Amino acid sequence: MTADNRIVLSSDHAAIQLRQVVAAHIAMRGWAVVDIGPTTPESTDYPKHGEAAARLVASGDCRFGVVLCGTGQGVMMAANKVRGVRCGVCADTFSARMIRRHNDANMLSIGARVVGEGLALDIVDAFLTAEFEGGRHAARVEMIRALEE
Ligand code: RB5
Repeated sequence: MTADNRIVLSSDHAAIQLRQVVAAHIAMRGWAVVDIGPTTPESTDYPKHGEAAARLVASGDCRFGVVLCGTGQGVMMAANKVRGVRCGVCADTFSARMIRRHNDANMLSIGARVVGEGLALDIVDAFLTAEFEGGRHAARVEMIRALEE
């Protein structure tokens, strides 16, 4: 397992079931899944789960991260506070493809109370198969990165 094929997954209590389905799907696609939980259904705080996944992406331990909560918004907000992370919430495949192509997103967030299982898996596939286009988009991504200074 190398960092290049590792994907970290995390969620809060609202998305445990969908996270496990997504984890199995990503593994089936040949990626090494680092699922950091949680596994029990007690209510838990989404910021710490968004952050924990983001830290593994920012450190280079994982190439990508997929985070989930009820809306996808809370874990996304937390993840984006970690330096080096670009995370977008997606409820459609077009956006999932474009946050890779144009924004070089390294994390994807999904709302388990927003999208169904089938669409969630299509969103994941769109995200993981799209490539960053570079060029003029690289300069814009660099402008985002510069905001961290
Ligand atoms: C939990 O009830 C809910 O607030 C959380 O899953 C998420 O939607 C927050 O953004």
